[in-house]
Amino acid sequence: MNKPKVLVARSIFPETIARLSEHFEVEANQSDESWTKAQLIARLKGKQGVFTTGSERIDAEVLDACPDLKICANMAVGYNNFDIDAMTAHGVLGTNAPDVLTETTADFGFALLMATARRISESEHFLRAGKWEKWSYDMFAGSDIHGSTLGIIGMGRIGQGIAKRGALGFGMKVIYHNRSRLEASLEAECKAAYVGKEELLKTADHVVLVVPYTPASHHTIGAAEIALMKPTATLINIARGGIVDDAALAVALREKRIAAAGLDVFEGEPKVNPELLKVPNVVLTPHIASATVPTRRAMADLAVDNLIGYLVHDKPVTPLNP
Ligand code: DGY
Repeated sequence: MNKPKVLVARSIFPETIARLSEHFEVEANQSDESWTKAQLIARLKGKQGVFTTGSERIDAEVLDACPDLKICANMAVGYNNFDIDAMTAHGVLGTNAPDVLTETTADFGFALLMATARRISESEHFLRAGKWEKWSYDMFAGSDIHGSTLGIIGMGRIGQGIAKRGALGFGMKVIYHNRSRLEASLEAECKAAYVGKEELLKTADHVVLVVPYTPASHHTIGAAEIALMKPTATLINIARGGIVDDAALAVALREKRIAAAGLDVFEGEPKVNPELLKVPNVVLTPHIASATVPTRRAMADLAVDNLIGYLVHDKPVTPLNP
């Protein structure tokens, strides 16, 4: 019997390709150059499955051109690269990679918060540039983490992981805002109190964004929201580019309307708003919140499990539009 055909859209672990090859006829992009949409379509024609990494847009144009496609397995928990309504309309299953990256991403969110509050990048650049000549009472004096108020917008699994780290590890007072309030037992476990978005922005010392990107969450934080924040506050975005209005944030950072920001995701990434590159009080990382070797392996494995689960056993593991 002919094996189903699967396309791997970006460079990935050789072990991932080997595992896929046990079940499928595999064509893999191991060049680490991302394909244009036309190149993606050309390779996807005649394939039943595609392994995506979160940056390949799967929309009606792709789906119309690739009628044999049955499943798109994203190696990411976020799936804003999928037009899920168009996929459903075309009878194509989407799957993502939840849970396996929760703790790793929460670790990173906390690391970015700490680096931002304690001005770690800024001070390292200063030292590397040979500018450290003397002690000074206010040299890179930042803001405290322990005992401060942590405000989390988006209280899914990763938000809950950050809440626990803040409350249990650093004695922070944790407040959160979410589309829906958590059950009381979960709030107690996270030691987190539900508040309105405005109250959160006004009272938090550190605001962490962990909401999925949808048209409704576009620019959750813009100039008006930043204006509500304390001038000493920090803003951390590990969610998606587009959740923050990066241009408005760059102005706010330049004018010191808030103390600092830590950003792992950007509008239009991998491009970064040049105004953000000019301000010192922002820590910038290239979308690496889930990037540990074990977690990236687990994410790849889950995407493979979904392809095998659906194309071989008709039983996907983490379907989005069953
Ligand atoms: C995700 O899984 O959505 C992360 O952003 C890593 O890509």
